[in-house]
Amino acid sequence: MTIDHPEFPVTYGAGASEDLLHAYFKSLKSRFPDCKTSKSGEPTDHMDEPLGWECKVGLCGLCAVEIAEGAENFVPPDPGSPEMNTIENKAFLDPDPLKYRLTCVAKVKGPVKLKIPG
Ligand code: FES
Repeated sequence: MTIDHPEFPVTYGAGASEDLLHAYFKSLKSRFPDCKTSKSGEPTDHMDEPLGWECKVGLCGLCAVEIAEGAENFVPPDPGSPEMNTIENKAFLDPDPLKYRLTCVAKVKGPVKLKIPG
């Protein structure tokens, strides 16, 4: 997928069973081999990047992205997931899974282009 960002555009791949945020962590590690990470693989010292995160379980809303292209390639949100509720009540965005998703829980099955909600 591609994250379209004026300063820090990034393109990386994600496996079918992988959420977009953890795939992103992997891509950071391969792009910046000296990047320090926590036990869970989360970068601890690399902040010049477009994505934000905190909870990594779909509750804080910091990892929300806007879908610019490829909404059909997202796996639909799990009905038991807090994802759409968090998008509406924490990220203050339209809870439409064709417009916005949380990278820490969303998975894709094909190419997507994302933007950071502005
Ligand atoms: S990191 Fe908190 S909702 Fe994704």
